[in-house]
Amino acid sequence: MREANEERTVGRLRQWLKGKARIDPKGPTAYIAAMAVRDIIILPDKRLRSKSESVKAVDKSLRALVNDMFETMYAAPGIGLAAVQIGVPRRVVTMDLAKKDEPKQPQVFINPEVTWVSDEKATYEEGCLSIPEYYEEVTRPKAVKVKFFDLDLKPQEIEAEGLLATCLQHEIDHTNGVLFIDHISKLKRDMVMKKFKKAAKKTVGGKSLAEDQEPSHHIG
Ligand code: NI
Repeated sequence: MREANEERTVGRLRQWLKGKARIDPKGPTAYIAAMAVRDIIILPDKRLRSKSESVKAVDKSLRALVNDMFETMYAAPGIGLAAVQIGVPRRVVTMDLAKKDEPKQPQVFINPEVTWVSDEKATYEEGCLSIPEYYEEVTRPKAVKVKFFDLDLKPQEIEAEGLLATCLQHEIDHTNGVLFIDHISKLKRDMVMKKFKKAAKKTVGGKSLAEDQEPSHHIG
């Protein structure tokens, strides 16, 4: 999930700096050096509609995937990412809801599942790294209970509300092939789909022309 408003300008700046800002090494350890920013797949890529598979074991490859997901999420920048968004259909979600001046709060959810939702609803303006520069208000249950496994494969359960609840629902949707635009009106969804299909057709040499266009924040 992408944080709206103040993150937009920062996002564009970081996008521009990508590749230019790597002069300073990120860290001295091989552990950090081994992480990689992966490409985020974009609408209308059909893989975004696939249902991700459950994780059965936390092995070296899963840890590498989680590391890459954090690296990719922070670089984007985003506050949440599902593995399917980097083309890996496994039920893994990374998240960090810390504000810019706060220390990082990385969270990993393996095989997350919503077990309870409140009747009370909340509306947030959502965005998605796979639907860049599009933001729309989405109404969802205000509070949720989510069960998941941590990186030691220990079962966990949390009750969340506010931004955490919204972000968890948004990311768990991704693991089920559901996007936030599925929760808005058909008219608005059709307009977004049309825009992204058109942009994909114009893609030349692997780079979408949409990246060079001015973002339109209020389609429909
Ligand atoms: Ni998303």
